[in-house]
Amino acid sequence: MPVARLLPRAAVRALPSCGCRASVVPLRPQSTSPRQLPADASFHSVSFSDSEHPRVLITGGLGQLGVGLAKLLRKRFGKDNVILSDIRKPPDHVFSSGPFIYSDILDYKNLREIVVNNRITWLIHYSALLSAVGEANVPLARAVNITGLHNILDIAAEHSLRLFVPSTIGAFGPTSPRNPTPDLCIQRPRTIYGVSKVHAELMGEYYHYRYGLDFRCLRYPGIISADSQPGGGTTDYAVQIFHDAIKSGKFQCNLRPDTRLPMMYLDDCLKATLDVMEAPAEALTMRTYNINALSFTPEELAQEVLKHMPELQVTYNVDSVRQAIADSWPMNFDDSNARRDWGWKHDFDLPEMVTAMFNFLSSEARAARAN
Ligand SMILES: NC(=O)c1ccc[n+]([C@@H]2O[C@H](COP(=O)([O-])OP(=O)(O)OC[C@H]3O[C@@H](n4cnc5c(N)ncnc54)[C@H](O)[C@@H]3O)[C@@H](O)[C@H]2O)c1
Repeated sequence: MPVARLLPRAAVRALPSCGCRASVVPLRPQSTSPRQLPADASFHSVSFSDSEHPRVLITGGLGQLGVGLAKLLRKRFGKDNVILSDIRKPPDHVFSSGPFIYSDILDYKNLREIVVNNRITWLIHYSALLSAVGEANVPLARAVNITGLHNILDIAAEHSLRLFVPSTIGAFGPTSPRNPTPDLCIQRPRTIYGVSKVHAELMGEYYHYRYGLDFRCLRYPGIISADSQPGGGTTDYAVQIFHDAIKSGKFQCNLRPDTRLPMMYLDDCLKATLDVMEAPAEALTMRTYNINALSFTPEELAQEVLKHMPELQVTYNVDSVRQAIADSWPMNFDDSNARRDWGWKHDFDLPEMVTAMFNFLSSEARAARAN
């Protein structure tokens, strides 16, 4: 049967006129694996009515972003409909807050079992090695960020999942326009993290046009959160300053004071993720969007922090690896497409973000003292 007859209409429109005629596309050459994807990717599809809540699996869920996202999604879809997974042991408060399961994204069979047994319909793929840790261990970053992503794409296509994969400001490089950086422009990153994220954007979009996979991707700026630690990215300083300010009244920044990067408060990032996942498919004119909120330098952040803690001492000891990465990244994102297509709007500007961080961390410190 001609492949075009098996593909959704959007995919047919996007196909180059190559005259290809395969009804089954073998994704991997090994014959022991049943990983033969039907061209319309709906062979295994499970029917869920639109009124049913999605059943969500979050991979790499114990990092900076996953626990917060699980909390938000559980509030909306019910506790048992959102499963956190990771290869690490969850802390008590996470384990007791809702379903948690072990999942290594490099283990395809285990992933498939989880998706099938739990009737998963949405997959949020957070597992990754971030920019600085990725540069420190390129083979592992390549395995997790690229091979792992292939497993995720195949599982999502085979089981007709809605798939979210975050990308990053790190998907751009020194030859990209930096202020502002539009959605579509040159992407020649120079970190394994950035290269793997461009790969993820392109592969996800390819699976969308080729197999009809419902792939959705946001390029997150550096994310600032109070109740979770960053996982080794170049923008980590913007979280560390708050912890160090409260703990010791001193902060040593590993980027130059004038390094401007796009940033976002965690609540905005999680809201954007839920919003784009819930957006009707016809509203999405693209599958990968920039989202923007703040853009500041370490010096500007320190000035805002000093309004709350005038005694804070800030010094600079530049880490050359992180600085080189930061110097190749956007200073500001153009996110007009996200604002137009699905109504993206951030709530936290710099003063609100700094106040929210101090409110959270001071109440935590008070609670710790009381205990
Ligand atoms: N935090 C940010 O500022 C930021 C910015 C842009 C994009 N992102 C993206 O958002 C996602 C989540 O980011 P984060 O900050 O929570 O990352 P993180 O580094 O804090 O957490 C990543 C998680 O992945 C897990 N992991 C590693 N190898 C795995 C494997 N083989 N199988 C399963 N899990 C594995 C780790 O145990 C960790 O808990 C990532 O894809 C990241 O690239 C984050």
